[in-house]
Amino acid sequence: MAKDLQKLLRRMTLVEKIGQLSMLSGDFTATGPTLSPDFRDAVRAGRAGSLLNLWGREAVLEVQRLAVEETRLGIPLVFGFDVLHGHRTIFPIPLAEAGSFDPMLWELTARRSAAEATADGISLTFAPMLDVARDPRWGRIAESPGEDPWLAAAYATAKVRGFQGDDLASPDSLPATAKHFGAYGAVLAGREYASVEVSERTLHEVHLPAFVAAVQAGVAAVMPALTDLGGVPATAHAPLLRRELRRNQGFDGVIVSDHSAVSDLLAHGVAGDLAEAAALALRAGVDIDMMGRAYERGLPLALERGLVTEREIDAAVRRVLRWKQRLGLFEDPYRGLSAAPAQSVGHLDRALAREAARRSMVLLKNDGDLLPLSASARRVAVIGPLAAAGGELLGPWWAAGDRASAVSYRDGLAEGLPDREIRHAAGCAIGGDGGNGDASGFAEAVALARWSDVAVLCLGEAAELSGEAASRADPGLPGLQRDLAEAVIATGTPTLLVLTSGRPLIEPAILSRAPAVMAAWFPGIEGGAALADLVSGQAAPSGRLAVSWPADRGQIPVFFGQRPTGRPAPGDGGRYVSRYLDRPSTPLYPFGHGMGYTRFALDTLTVTVDTLGPDQDLGVSVGVTNTGRRAGQETVLLFLHDPVASSARPLLELRGFQRIELQPGERGTVRFTLPPAAFELLDHRLRPAREPGRVEIMVGPAADRDRLLSTWIELQPA
Ligand code: GLC
Repeated sequence: MAKDLQKLLRRMTLVEKIGQLSMLSGDFTATGPTLSPDFRDAVRAGRAGSLLNLWGREAVLEVQRLAVEETRLGIPLVFGFDVLHGHRTIFPIPLAEAGSFDPMLWELTARRSAAEATADGISLTFAPMLDVARDPRWGRIAESPGEDPWLAAAYATAKVRGFQGDDLASPDSLPATAKHFGAYGAVLAGREYASVEVSERTLHEVHLPAFVAAVQAGVAAVMPALTDLGGVPATAHAPLLRRELRRNQGFDGVIVSDHSAVSDLLAHGVAGDLAEAAALALRAGVDIDMMGRAYERGLPLALERGLVTEREIDAAVRRVLRWKQRLGLFEDPYRGLSAAPAQSVGHLDRALAREAARRSMVLLKNDGDLLPLSASARRVAVIGPLAAAGGELLGPWWAAGDRASAVSYRDGLAEGLPDREIRHAAGCAIGGDGGNGDASGFAEAVALARWSDVAVLCLGEAAELSGEAASRADPGLPGLQRDLAEAVIATGTPTLLVLTSGRPLIEPAILSRAPAVMAAWFPGIEGGAALADLVSGQAAPSGRLAVSWPADRGQIPVFFGQRPTGRPAPGDGGRYVSRYLDRPSTPLYPFGHGMGYTRFALDTLTVTVDTLGPDQDLGVSVGVTNTGRRAGQETVLLFLHDPVASSARPLLELRGFQRIELQPGERGTVRFTLPPAAFELLDHRLRPAREPGRVEIMVGPAADRDRLLSTWIELQPA
């Protein structure tokens, strides 16, 4: 630590030290974010080292000035905010954007978010959210990059790079927080904040790789999960935070608790009072207590009782100060804000939002090539409670976004299909927490469907049914929407079902009856315009599923990376094999599924060598031909399977993805390079190891064995 920080630390009182470890929150009022008088006093007294939810140039300048000019030591504050999928320009939710399989896009939207958030004074985002999620009941699956650890790791790298840029101290760098460490996505039965029970192996193979990638990319902060792991809350989990994160992964940034997570240790049943809670968290390695005020109240008592030492407190304070130095705050506490405001504040990047939305929507089915709409479809009925509800398209985290800035499906289609007659009926309420409404709008909706040549049926979830604290035991269409869907489809009018949601909605009957289905997720502010681009054929859908789409609630969790069983079920039938008697075991749509407007065929899978030395890269290539009549983009996934290893390996392990753009009739080649690490597995001590033997290499469009080309290589011993 630089000498002057050491000096600074020596001058600090206990109150000021604990202040650096405390994060307080701004309030959102009618005039925008502000800081309550109490919290202003806390800032002046040096009892706060960081804030969350306070943004906007003027507000941040003013409160930072309090910290810098009116406190005894003048230590600047860090301003944190949940910039998950956009700050003012709201992009598609992470689960959707992950399905673009495009690291450049992930990075670009994060870079744009960083530019907007830093112009609003934000110096820390609580993103990327990296919880591998396989349970659509869990509302936070919306914020996650989906079910696969390898995809999540690639996403982590791109997002950290995009938010932070090259230099944390640069005024447009947005320091990032990898959250929620670890395995929050495995909450029991998908119920929010419930306990987590995963094996050490699954923790390391599935839930931690994205965090390893974020740490390697230099992520500034890590947030432990609100949940426990086998009985020990992550916030108090010394082996997880100190041994795994700090020692093994080499993380040297700051650990920020989740909201009130330190005081939650009481309800978790591991601390008797705030002093014990504060001591547990601090000793586990949590540097900053977000909003729990447990450090403020508990640490002085814990010190008195000998539960912590002042040295332990100093170590955390030292990390926070060093971190503020790396963020450039001692050099310029205003991080460039004191200069004249950039013209661009408040200006939205609609073009990027539209592209991201277009690239994230997934065409699940398209019977009879209903899409793109034919010229003969003159009359278009846009039906459903999500059709005109633009604000809902922002999804669960809209940061400083303006719900009124969103283009609804109705408006997007009206604008994008100017030569058609477009009429709209809501049909029913969205349904959910606020009540389900009634069926009085059905007749109008059905009449409109009858009138039209094609119906665009916009169903799904309100934003509040998704995200944090939004677990659903029945993750299907809420309220009366199922009935509305039945009624509209029953008219026989060709229907495109557009699903807006933060999760795969489990509606097998309706999905089988609608001829065309587009998973639009929560597409962000340009959702309606992007839908129109795809429906009109201006652009072709290219998004893929970053999560398996279950065929039935009883299958949850269903994901492609399952381990083999001792009793595999080769077909659909048979007894004493691993299957359900009453439902298939496979999802309705696998990970990677997503249609475009053309067809592709894969041929000639080749590998550079048949026997791979321990330090060698493996080159893999495959021919791709556009066999359809339109230009389009194909995403090719690469999987491995090691059939005999010291522990049973997942049936498919993702190790690569590539996209290729081809004209009708054109053939191209997709190439992958797999480094030696791609073939490592964790040995019985959970250390990375290479086990010699045969490994199957597979490529194809989705995690569906029937659609994969396969070849074998032999791994030589290390
Ligand atoms: C929460 C969330 C976390 C978020 C924090 C601050 O309750 O779990 O993801 O960053 O609050 O808003």
